Amino acid sequence: VGQNLLTLKEVDSTNNFLKTLLSNSKPVPEGTVIMAESQFAGRGQQNNQWHAEPGKNLTFSVLLKPSFLSISAQFDLTRAISLSVYDALCPLLGDGLKIKWPNDIYYGDKKLGGMLIENILQGSQIKSAIVGIGINVNQDNFPPDAGKATSIKQILHKDYQLRDILAEICNNIEAHYLSLKAGKLNLVRETYLNRLYWYNQQKRFRANGTEFEGTISGVKDNGLLVVSHNNTESTFNLKEIEFLNH
Ligand code: BTN
Repeated sequence: VGQNLLTLKEVDSTNNFLKTLLSNSKPVPEGTVIMAESQFAGRGQQNNQWHAEPGKNLTFSVLLKPSFLSISAQFDLTRAISLSVYDALCPLLGDGLKIKWPNDIYYGDKKLGGMLIENILQGSQIKSAIVGIGINVNQDNFPPDAGKATSIKQILHKDYQLRDILAEICNNIEAHYLSLKAGKLNLVRETYLNRLYWYNQQKRFRANGTEFEGTISGVKDNGLLVVSHNNTESTFNLKEIEFLNH
């Protein structure tokens, strides 16, 4: 992963760029990475936009071809990639680092990065996965409407080489991807759970317009969040539940 690296000055979205590349006739090798200094139409989850100050942050996409994974294992790829980013950043940031379900990278109660994985399916298998990753590295300030965003620089008060962090993430993606390929699903699932923000803690959530206290007790194989409250367990998808930080 990352041997074949293309760096662009400016692009709409590295995910879009990779997708277009794939639809052209020339084959694109697995592990290809498209990195951009700036994106003018960066995309986040749930149709959100992804903003990053040009040149300061990591925005890149990795092409994987996990044809060994069936559609029902899509969330295992999400887990493996989340763990890869986590493991790459952990030596720098230590314990405050967490994975916020489903695939946000958090430090304390703030978002440091996220990912947008777009799978191209063929029959019941995943033919290609466009793994888009955005990590706030050297950005000093965030606009008030950026919500709970932070950067490595805001945490450690130092600038970092984007290339170095990219290389670490790529190495870790390769390692976790090989675990998936080797069928070590239980290891990936268990490690993911142990890195999870708010896991096994009594916290406040909102679902269906109602606030309640509950505890994240697990994540289903298919990626649904399991929250227990009043001795019952409920499952939620991304649109159905909100974490309340107050
Ligand atoms: C999220 O947290 O909502 C996901 C953010 C994903 C952003 C990355 S930046 C590189 C790649 N290209 C995009 O347009 N999005 C992803």
